[in-house]
Amino acid sequence: MAKLAHAQWSSRMTFVLAAAGSAVGLGNIWRFSYMVGENGGAAFVLVYLACVALVGLPILVAEWLIGRRGQKNPIDTMAEQARQNGKPAAWLGIGVSGVLAAFLILSFYSVIGGWSLNYTLGSVIGTFSGGDADSIGGMFSAMLASPGELLGWHTAFMVLVIAIVARGVTKGLESAVRSMMPALVILMLVLVGYGMTTGHFGEAVAFMFRPDWSALSGGVVLAAMGQAFFTLSLGMGIMMAYGSYLGQDVNLISTARTVIILDTVIALLAGLAIFPIVFANGLSPGEGPGLIFVTLPLAFGNMAGGTVLGLIFFLLLTFAALTSAISLLEPTVEVTIQVASGETRQPAVPSGIVPSFDSPTQQAT
Ligand code: ALA
Repeated sequence: MAKLAHAQWSSRMTFVLAAAGSAVGLGNIWRFSYMVGENGGAAFVLVYLACVALVGLPILVAEWLIGRRGQKNPIDTMAEQARQNGKPAAWLGIGVSGVLAAFLILSFYSVIGGWSLNYTLGSVIGTFSGGDADSIGGMFSAMLASPGELLGWHTAFMVLVIAIVARGVTKGLESAVRSMMPALVILMLVLVGYGMTTGHFGEAVAFMFRPDWSALSGGVVLAAMGQAFFTLSLGMGIMMAYGSYLGQDVNLISTARTVIILDTVIALLAGLAIFPIVFANGLSPGEGPGLIFVTLPLAFGNMAGGTVLGLIFFLLLTFAALTSAISLLEPTVEVTIQVASGETRQPAVPSGIVPSFDSPTQQAT
């Protein structure tokens, strides 16, 4: 009887887009900028860059390798690899913690995704036009003080995520990610250009790249390492799950390099766009998680064409958040499907973003 071969990504490009779609998200723009602001600027940025290159790259490749070898969900993969190599069964804990981490991260990620949706609508109706730091800061505080509004936007975001995952893979998402990445880079460049007109660009560059090492502490190093893991979707079972659909012919190191460079460039551009606005408006870099939701609407509200640019930006941010959120749900979905069906093989296709497989998705061998 024909044995089913394991499904694989249809091309290297599809895999790169899926991995980049997972990596590039709120972590690059929302989380990176406020973490830089809260952790003393350049010292954090430089340690973060070192973590990405020295720890992130090898772990990303390792997750893909383990996934490719196991060809199962992250928990079963870790359990079986431990068994095959005569190691303690406790290694499956790595798989369990990854799946749990992704699920728990999604529980707050979706709240911020809801904020982004809300701000997309705000841009459409011109809420930020001509606003100053006080009025825009006030809008953000008012949103936080309204549980009904927060719940509504969070629910809307999760409905989108679940609808995409439940409907399975669509080719449309692949091409959307393909055009979203360059669009996001271009828009970030426009925002950096705006930052240059504020008269505080030099201050922002110094804040991000001229380290005051006295700001460095164990906590800052830990925060930088955490940011490297978060932004590359590491330790969440995601990359291991994506690796399970990899063929032997993909060069993992060069693929990891491509994903990491794209991810890092977007984060650094976000910082260079946001901090000039922070300094020009007398805001505090340590504002916390509200940082981009106060600074960027200020920029859009006061620049030529800002309403349209703001709309495009928040749409792209929401889309980047969606593609990451889908990948955060993926490991839980895989494990649940396999537990429910009693099947140990991976589902024919990942339910998440962009893995558009050649049809039929599994071939007889
Ligand atoms: N890697 C995803 C992000 O940075 C979770 O948003």
